[in-house]
Amino acid sequence: MSYDLVIKNGVLVTPEATIQANVGVKDGRIAAIASEELSGRRVIDAAGLYVLPGLIDGHVHFRDPGLTYKEDLATGSQAAAAGGICTFIDMPNTKPPLSTVEAFQEKKSLGESKACVDFGVVAVVVQDNVDLIPELATTGIVGYKVFMGETVGAIPAPDDGAMLEAFGLISKTGLRVGLHAENNQIMQHLIKRFKAQGRTDALAHLDSRPEVAEADAIQKAILFAEYTGAKVHIYHMSSKKGAELVGQAKKAGIDVTAETGPHYLLMDGPTDMPKLKSMLKMNPPVRAREHGAALFQGLLDGSVDMIATDHSPHTQEEKIKDNIWEAIPGFCGVETSVPLMLTQVNAGRMTLNQYVKVASENPARVWGMYPKKGRLAVGSDADFTLVDMGKEGVIRSERLHSKSKVSPFDGYKVKGMPVYTIVRGNVVMKDGEVNSTPIGKLVSPQAR
Ligand code: DOR
Ligand code: ZN
Repeated sequence: MSYDLVIKNGVLVTPEATIQANVGVKDGRIAAIASEELSGRRVIDAAGLYVLPGLIDGHVHFRDPGLTYKEDLATGSQAAAAGGICTFIDMPNTKPPLSTVEAFQEKKSLGESKACVDFGVVAVVVQDNVDLIPELATTGIVGYKVFMGETVGAIPAPDDGAMLEAFGLISKTGLRVGLHAENNQIMQHLIKRFKAQGRTDALAHLDSRPEVAEADAIQKAILFAEYTGAKVHIYHMSSKKGAELVGQAKKAGIDVTAETGPHYLLMDGPTDMPKLKSMLKMNPPVRAREHGAALFQGLLDGSVDMIATDHSPHTQEEKIKDNIWEAIPGFCGVETSVPLMLTQVNAGRMTLNQYVKVASENPARVWGMYPKKGRLAVGSDADFTLVDMGKEGVIRSERLHSKSKVSPFDGYKVKGMPVYTIVRGNVVMKDGEVNSTPIGKLVSPQAR
């Protein structure tokens, strides 16, 4: 049998095992994993490289439609490919927001005509679209999102009644609802206070969104999940208390999952915010080192399920302001996450097997894409991220593939880089060169 593609001599990494094997791809799927030689129309010699199941970024804002001066599904997906990401999940705070079936259809067709990697789609739940929840579930979305606290796009939080009703309806769909978990009243109160005091410094942003605001919102989401049976997910978890609450709820048998991002794991708000100023402004904020340490521990012990970047591109003009209140929150992440995390693997903070679990298998499971995505096994999509653990580099924001060139990691040294991004057997990135052909396909949940 001749395969469409063979990846030979690589070391395959799964959450459970590390094995030297050759991989045969046929019709976009993994058709063989074998120790003997395989023949193919195209052969990639992966000697010296690790073959990971295609990595997934479960949280990006590619701004399409409506805010494409910041990013679009072409540039965003190219940044993903450059960064070793085979599948992204796009957030709904676009213009218009993805809150209707029509908006879903537009996103699907925009994605399939522009994206060079695969993608999942999330629908937003607001006060007035709760009734659409059952119908939205039939479209092919991977889940729902509720903004409990105000952020970019000023999507208002549903009131508690609507949120509880929404959770009940969502529980019947079998899909998961993700929360932007910040208590709005606490934040708005503090923002008003600090503004009245004349504060415009960068740390005022961190001070205005304290850990308790996140903890309160997470607690409510978990409580509503307990009462409705809805599966919940905490987006961009930034605090130690958050990790504790999610860990406890999991032990109590509640189906709650959580993500955190490289900026929360690797940066220190109190020292980095005064240096990087509005560049590092993000909702929720990057907190003190101890939070990053607890979140990292959470990734290892399972209380935090995955790494997702919250890639939030904006223009330089929107981002860089002297007055912290005037700067927009968010920065790029999709292209820098994999090298940053591989650097942590090289530093001995997690194994490559653990990384594959939190960067591929878990996001696929949580968003209903497993085992099509997130698995190195016969029958799964032929998605691979090939990494060179010895390759060193420096993150340079001006070299990012995003329209936005804003990254707080500019100048960071990395060791361990993606060198191939392969989606359903298509080589989308090789040695940093991206093939922008829009081969990307919507990924819908597997069996509900
Ligand atoms: O800082 C943020 N920016 N946090 C969010 O939740 C949204 C994001 C954006 O869309 O820019
Ligand atoms: Zn986000």
